[in-house]
Amino acid sequence: MPEIHVAKIAQFPDGERRIVKHDDREIGVFHWEGQFYAYENLCLHQGGPACEGVMMHRVEDMLGPDRTWLGQRFSKDMHFVCPWHGYEYDLKTGACVGDRSLKLKRFDVVRRGEDIYVVAG
Ligand code: FES
Repeated sequence: MPEIHVAKIAQFPDGERRIVKHDDREIGVFHWEGQFYAYENLCLHQGGPACEGVMMHRVEDMLGPDRTWLGQRFSKDMHFVCPWHGYEYDLKTGACVGDRSLKLKRFDVVRRGEDIYVVAG
């Protein structure tokens, strides 16, 4: 399977992303907390560039012991949001937050020396 060069690791800091192209396909590669994640840049809703959307921590409700709503806070989970209509995806799994049975197509990422590649299979 072809390996597509993404970046020199020194030029791809944690917290950033890159979009690479292979044939007719775009792949979003994320560097997050020391790991790399890659997904097809094709939203499951209507084909928008999901991997180019804003990255934000998941918002979660806080509930009291009696299940009274106490407000909201940001969790440690990182999401990215499709810029077209707001479908939200879990950065570590590619799952759509609204329906976790739906997942973006995932690609393997390999490090060879000082370079990062995505396996476009
Ligand atoms: S195309 Fe991504 S939310 Fe609609």
